[in-house]
Amino acid sequence: MGLGTYKLQGDMAYAPVLAALQSGYRHIDTASFYENEEAVGRAIVDSGVPREEVFITSKVWNTEQGYEAAMKAFESSLKRLNTDYLDLYLVHWPVTGKRLDTYRALETLYREGRVQAIGVSNFNQRHLQELYAACQIIPAVDQVEMSPFLYQKELLQHCQARDVLVTAFSPFARGRILGDARLAELGREHGKSPAQVILRWCLQKGMAVIPRSSDPGRIRENSQVFDFTLDRDEMLQMDFMHSELRTTTDPDTYE
Ligand SMILES: NC(=O)c1ccc[n+]([C@@H]2O[C@H](COP(=O)([O-])OP(=O)(O)OC[C@H]3O[C@@H](n4cnc5c(N)ncnc54)[C@H](OP(=O)(O)O)[C@@H]3O)[C@@H](O)[C@H]2O)c1
Repeated sequence: MGLGTYKLQGDMAYAPVLAALQSGYRHIDTASFYENEEAVGRAIVDSGVPREEVFITSKVWNTEQGYEAAMKAFESSLKRLNTDYLDLYLVHWPVTGKRLDTYRALETLYREGRVQAIGVSNFNQRHLQELYAACQIIPAVDQVEMSPFLYQKELLQHCQARDVLVTAFSPFARGRILGDARLAELGREHGKSPAQVILRWCLQKGMAVIPRSSDPGRIRENSQVFDFTLDRDEMLQMDFMHSELRTTTDPDTYE
């Protein structure tokens, strides 16, 4: 479980990251594209939590792709984050013609010990197959959009069969699915909110999950999902909520 930080910038990023670390989160998801790495880095330092206890994920943006450009982008991200290593570094999107060279840069960084793990984001099975054939280090993670309303079951199974951890982004479809009456009903059974039920579904599917909130109360609420379990029927009910609700670009559009 980590804190998502897309769209949070400046103090609007600093305060939520600090609140998250204070309420027990130890994983922060950022990206050079979010233009908040500096604020994220400052909040981590100011939190007083030792650097080695925090798991920082960042990503190479599309305009930074290619071998040399990605190496440079990494140095800039480190500088902004005020750290000397990353826990996880991802290729943000499978940019056509560049993604393999970008990933090669990540392999170099991994071998040099500058990142603890490397992976990809928004890669579908086709992009992953192409990568397995070309890479030397299998990606540790594929971070993709996933929620009960966008249950990418085959992609999840593909990754799990190869020990690639799926991280679910936009688990609330950016807030759009939180008013669903069926989720409210499932939550009532457990004394939990729709948001907590969704996060639990993600975790029980074996995914990592990175919900975003800017509100300290909701940040705490989202972390309180380790004291209940959805049973088989409840999980199935949620599987059937799938309705192809995608809030961002379909990775299939990347040749
Ligand atoms: N790799 C990629 O290409 C990619 C793409 C998209 C996102 N991501 C990552 O995934 C993270 C999460 O996805 P997201 O930011 O798109 O959206 P999200 O987490 O699905 O939804 C965020 C929205 O939900 C609301 N919310 C959060 N907790 C709530 C709660 N307990 N009750 C009611 N409302 C709640 C937030 O409002 P408040 O702030 O008011 O609480 C916010 O409007 C991102 O921040 C980013 O780190 C990665």
